[in-house]
Amino acid sequence: MNERKGHAERLICCYHGWNYDTDGKLMGVPVPEGCCDGFDRADFNLARAPRVGEYRGFVFASLSAHGASFEDHIGPMKGNIDDLVDRAPDGALALDAGMHRYVFSGNWKLQVENVLDSYHVPFGHASTVNKAGVQFARREGDRKGAEVIETGKQQTASTWKDRKSFTVGNGHGWTSNTTLDDSKRSSAAFDEYKRALAAKVGADRAAEILKPRLHNSLIYPNMSIMGLNIHVRVIKPLAVDRTEVTIYPIRLLGAPESMNSGNIRLLNVTHSAASFVQTDDLESFVRTQKGLHSQQTDWVDISRGLGAEEPDRELNATRGLATHEMVVRAQYRAWVGYMREAA
Ligand SMILES: [Fe+2]
Repeated sequence: MNERKGHAERLICCYHGWNYDTDGKLMGVPVPEGCCDGFDRADFNLARAPRVGEYRGFVFASLSAHGASFEDHIGPMKGNIDDLVDRAPDGALALDAGMHRYVFSGNWKLQVENVLDSYHVPFGHASTVNKAGVQFARREGDRKGAEVIETGKQQTASTWKDRKSFTVGNGHGWTSNTTLDDSKRSSAAFDEYKRALAAKVGADRAAEILKPRLHNSLIYPNMSIMGLNIHVRVIKPLAVDRTEVTIYPIRLLGAPESMNSGNIRLLNVTHSAASFVQTDDLESFVRTQKGLHSQQTDWVDISRGLGAEEPDRELNATRGLATHEMVVRAQYRAWVGYMREAA
C-alpha cells in the first residue's frame, strides 16, 4: 500500500505480502505454513475505524468508539460543505488534482487557529497583500483581486476589521468575506461557468450560490474549507511540536477546465511548500512554538473581543468580529471538553 489514491482490488502489505480486499478482509497469506493450528484468516482482518460518517462525498472517521455521533458533531457545518459543493454545476467536487503536503515544527492547534484568524493577514502576509492584493488578482476572473487591503492603507487592518466570524459549537466556525462576490467576477471562463451553473440550477439559485457568504470554514478539529484560494485542508498532529498539513486543490465538476486549472495554478502560488502565503504562516507557527517554551509566563491571552459576541438568529450562530479571538476561544472550549471526556 504505497499509493495514496488509485484503484486496486487488493491492499497488499509491503512487509510480508498479506493482502486484503477493499473492505479490510484478509484474503491472502503468502506461505501460510507456519501459521498456528486453527489459524483463521477471519481473525486477522484489518482494524476498522469505530465510527465513520459521510456527507456529500466527504468521509469523516473517528478512531474512538465513544463520543458524539457524526450527525451531532458536524451539525450546522453541513451548510458550509453545501456552500462549497453547490458551486459545482454538476453538484460534486473532485479532489484529484494532486496535493501539497508539508510538515512544520509546531503544535497542530496553531494551524487550526490560523485558518479563521483574520487579524494576521495584513501583517503576516504583508509581502503579498501590500501591493493592493495583486497576487490574489491572479485568480481567474478577478480584475482587482480580493482587496485584502485598501490601496494607500498598507500595514493597517482596516479592511479586515468589519469582517465577521461565526461559531456554532463543537469548535466549528467560519469567517465571512463580502469582497468575495463571485457574481461580480467576469472573464471568458468565469462567465461560461456562471452560465453552466445557471443552466443546471436556474438563474435565481445560481445567483444565491454565488452570493458572498463564506471565506474560510473550520470543521473542528482538523479540516478546513478555504474559500478564497479554493481548497480543502487537512491538519494532522504528528507530535506535540510537529504537524502535517495537506492541501487539496478542488475541481468544481461541470465548471470550465480553464477555471479549475486557474484555481489550481493560484494554489501553487499561494499554498505550495514554496509559496508566497502559506510559508508566512508556517514561519509564524514555528516562531510561536519556540516562544511557548518560555518559562516567563504560563498563559497565552486569547481574550481579544471577549464579551463582544452576539447571537446571529438568521444563521443560528454566534457572531463576532473576524479580527477578534472568539473562534479561538470556541476551539479551546471544545478541546478542553474532549480532554475531559478522555480523562
Ligand atoms: Fe495566513
